[in-house]
Amino acid sequence: MTTAHAQIARNRPEWHVPVDQAIIITIDGPAGTGKSTVARRLAQRLGLDFLDTGAMYRAATAICIDHKIDPDDIDALVKVVESADLHFDWAADPPTMLAWLKPIDERIRDHDVNDLVSRIAAISRIREHMVRKQRIIAAQHPRLVAEGRDQGSVVFPDAEVKFYLDATPEIRAMRRADQLRAHGRSVDEALILRNIKQRDSMDAQRSDGPLICPDDAVVMDSSHLQIPEVISAMETIVRERVDSLRSQ
Ligand code: DC
Repeated sequence: MTTAHAQIARNRPEWHVPVDQAIIITIDGPAGTGKSTVARRLAQRLGLDFLDTGAMYRAATAICIDHKIDPDDIDALVKVVESADLHFDWAADPPTMLAWLKPIDERIRDHDVNDLVSRIAAISRIREHMVRKQRIIAAQHPRLVAEGRDQGSVVFPDAEVKFYLDATPEIRAMRRADQLRAHGRSVDEALILRNIKQRDSMDAQRSDGPLICPDDAVVMDSSHLQIPEVISAMETIVRERVDSLRSQ
């Protein structure tokens, strides 16, 4: 999309998905592509709900650490995660992640959670639990932008629109380094790049719900696009899809 196109898209009147139109839009892809921001803003722009599935895997990880459960003790972990009744408070924007009815949004972004989450997200029984919950959420919120790694491939294979948002590991590492610097943290860019590549390969190689690009997804590369340009391009695709759904 050219800058001129993005400008036109930005200037056009606000458009929402008609309220009687159920629609699931999935956005999958690796970390550091701007996926969360894009998904959240796209949902706001289209008048849809926003589901951050990474928050659910992060919540399971925080619970594992805080309850001092050995990540290899899968029975114990599944039991306590189930007892937490993980769900979102939809009154907030973005929706707040709750465990045992308490908000845990800040805790799930901590370093120790970041370091362990890929391992917890690779546990099949944890994934089964989350996939079940995500489908229940979609039944309750049938107008949804769902963001994660397996949303278009596993959780919502019949989604009306699927996106796969990518960017080169180098660009993603640079963005992560910029974020850390903005928080006054010292930064080793080479180490960040190594960690990103390692996490990508863990997410892509796990047997359950690996990060893949579904065949029917629209691939977008955010390496050289600004977030508003990505959102505008997605909005155009969603509008076309909704028009075609409504003319059938
Ligand atoms: O998008 P994020 O960084 O918040 O995701 C946290 C972790 O959870 C990351 O290791 C990928 C994993 N994840 C997953 O396996 N499946 C999802 N649907 C969402 C996230």
